[in-house]
Amino acid sequence: MEKGNVLMVCLGNICRSPLAQGIFEQLSKEFSITVDSAGTARYHIGSTPDPRSIKTALNHGIDISKQKARQFTRLDFDSFDYIFVMDLQNLKNVLELSQTEKERSKVKLLLTNEEVEDPYYFGNQGFEIVFNKIEKACKEIIGLWKQ
Ligand code: 4NP
Repeated sequence: MEKGNVLMVCLGNICRSPLAQGIFEQLSKEFSITVDSAGTARYHIGSTPDPRSIKTALNHGIDISKQKARQFTRLDFDSFDYIFVMDLQNLKNVLELSQTEKERSKVKLLLTNEEVEDPYYFGNQGFEIVFNKIEKACKEIIGLWKQ
């Protein structure tokens, strides 16, 4: 698999995709690629990540506290080679904005045949589970790039 720019997408861009951005940034330091995240909804535009995501990332040595939430736009189909979504609702929302087969081919669930569940209504433990699932998936992707 070719390396490329990665966009992580969830609903609010304050819980899951900021973690995914932080993790992928750390794992891909040696590649000169762009890693970013966005939400399909606009509720949290401009917000820093949820304190539970910030804390969970920090426990793993990753600082995501300076990220600011933004909404996914059609321009992202041009800027990014891979658009990884966390769940099936995100997948639907992003695909609804696509216009070409090429755009659609960039969009994939981050986990294989599994969703990264929204931890918004969970406690800290939910965020740790989400972190570990995302980290595993990101490592697999980077592993494929290195071959
Ligand atoms: P995220 O979690 O999509 O992982 O950022 C959510 C955060 C906030 C809301 C939904 C999901 N919300 O409805 O406000």
